[in-house]
Amino acid sequence: MPELIHAGPIVTTRGQTTPSQALDPERFLADGFALRHQLAAYLQITPETLEQRLPASCSDLAALHPGAVDFDPQRASAFYEETVGTAHLLELAAWHLGSAGYIADTLRLQASKASGQVLDFGGGIGSHALAAASLPEVERIWFVDLNPHNRAFVAQRAQAFGLSERLKVCRDLDDPALPKRFDTVICLDVLEHLPDPAAQLNEFAARMNPRAIALMNWYFFKGHEGEYPFHFDEPALVESFFETLQSRFLEVFHPLLITTRAYGLRP
Ligand SMILES: C[S@@+](CC[C@H](N)C(=O)[O-])C[C@H]1O[C@@H](n2cnc3c(N)ncnc32)[C@H](O)[C@@H]1O
Repeated sequence: MPELIHAGPIVTTRGQTTPSQALDPERFLADGFALRHQLAAYLQITPETLEQRLPASCSDLAALHPGAVDFDPQRASAFYEETVGTAHLLELAAWHLGSAGYIADTLRLQASKASGQVLDFGGGIGSHALAAASLPEVERIWFVDLNPHNRAFVAQRAQAFGLSERLKVCRDLDDPALPKRFDTVICLDVLEHLPDPAAQLNEFAARMNPRAIALMNWYFFKGHEGEYPFHFDEPALVESFFETLQSRFLEVFHPLLITTRAYGLRP
């Protein structure tokens, strides 16, 4: 893979490496954390080709999916790990750049709640993990994602920002390098991709410290025009999800008008 642009980390007098500019919501609104440049470099395409590919990226990703009727839910992991390739990088980039105001609000929420050992489950292109890694309250952020391109891209982005020590990438929650418990769990726009989101909530609960906070959202909907065939929407699955959510977690109010919710564990 090509080297990404080095974004100029500063080595402080104590020998720690910090990013030259905080990866905060304002910086995200300015350039998505150098997203266009870094993605074009990772994909080894020109900036012009990237611009041409971004608008069709959602339908390109959808085209890889066999469709709800033919899809075996047990193949969901293989779909994200083997079939998707780099298509999700482009789709997520188009979304984060096109809905930057919404993503920036999720980063504001994260900045107000994240601390300690942080899990970003299904972290995608790493916008949240990079921002979390530059928060002083965060000790380490663990980016977990099945897709090997997503992991490689985010590891390169972390390196470019001088954040490799604070941001670690893993395939799944069984990686022995991961802490047994987390202080913060981030799981944004992932639960609807899982064949058993209720089981995932139980796994999060088991891996959270008693005072940990989880930031989660979901969209159990295939889209008004079927544009999200990879989203699960079966009523029984959704009901089981909400039963588990309401039995294991208690919502914590936040003032941002976004779909992402904050939760603590029920005592
Ligand atoms: C819609 S993206 C969301 C990415 C990111 N959280 C965001 O908000 O932009 C869903 C992500 O979940 C990942 N994913 C899907 N199933 C997973 C699983 N079982 N374990 C870990 N990651 C998974 C996909 O590879 C993809 O990066």
